[in-house]
Amino acid sequence: MSKYSTAAGPRVTVQVLRSMAARSQRIVMTTAYDATFARMLDEGGADILLVGDSLANVIQGLDTTLPVTLDEMVYHARCVSRGAQRAQLVGDMPFMTYQVSPERALENAGRFLAQGNMHAVKLEGGIEMAPTIRRIVAAGIPVMGHVGLTPQSVHAMGGFKVQGRDEDDAERVMQDAKAVAEAGAYAVVLEGIPAPLAARIRKQLPIPTIGIGAGVDCDGQVLVCYDLLGLTSKGTPRFVKPYESFYERGVQAMRTYADEVRSGAFPAAAHSFGLNVAREGTGASTSAGGIEAKLEAKSGESTH
Ligand code: KIV
Repeated sequence: MSKYSTAAGPRVTVQVLRSMAARSQRIVMTTAYDATFARMLDEGGADILLVGDSLANVIQGLDTTLPVTLDEMVYHARCVSRGAQRAQLVGDMPFMTYQVSPERALENAGRFLAQGNMHAVKLEGGIEMAPTIRRIVAAGIPVMGHVGLTPQSVHAMGGFKVQGRDEDDAERVMQDAKAVAEAGAYAVVLEGIPAPLAARIRKQLPIPTIGIGAGVDCDGQVLVCYDLLGLTSKGTPRFVKPYESFYERGVQAMRTYADEVRSGAFPAAAHSFGLNVAREGTGASTSAGGIEAKLEAKSGESTH
């Protein structure tokens, strides 16, 4: 186990993240969409679990994150909150739930905390989102920013393209990151920007930066959990490192199960239940047949 894996420790808070960054202890963030994955990733040492709108892609099979609704996100947030004990839980605000007005954004952010049991929300955008971040933070809800490649603006960006490659665009991303920090965000995701730009932003920002496709010079890293676990059938983008190949292993496991069902190798006696045969003279039998059928698990207590 890594020396930083502290799944049994106290809950990660905004203050813990701030002091981690101050001590140059890198922050580990990933996404989660249900209780079982949340439990597994929490136990594996995630500091932050984001209920990302990327669930549109990996759970709902959509090409963009635009159609996912707040009701769907809040439902998944509740599921995740039942699995994780240590990680800070962040709800990702879906498209059009925070862009219309700061007041509407605040109401919607509140749902993530009140109904989804999240500890913070994340929203995409820079300078234009500063008043909204300010409003939500003023109400006592921690906000994580997200600048650079912002997937909800896919059509404005002309695709999922690296941002800030030339001088002017790099300056735009820098100003966005600064605006988010000045508005009161406690951390900011830097997505799809050149590594040297992320390093410059980190130096100039008073809050932790969490990179995805932004190089190593960030205070932390985030990957979509399906990507890091190798749970996708499509190829992975350059910035992803899969640490497992669960998709292939899942296909293989399913093939073996299918073979064993078809051949009759499964279930074996070890996976099957017997009958309780009534003992003579004890009276401990059922009336009709004298034999009491009783489901027994291997443990003798439960079938599950
Ligand atoms: O929705 C998501 O998964 C995200 C991360 C990639 C940061 O926003």
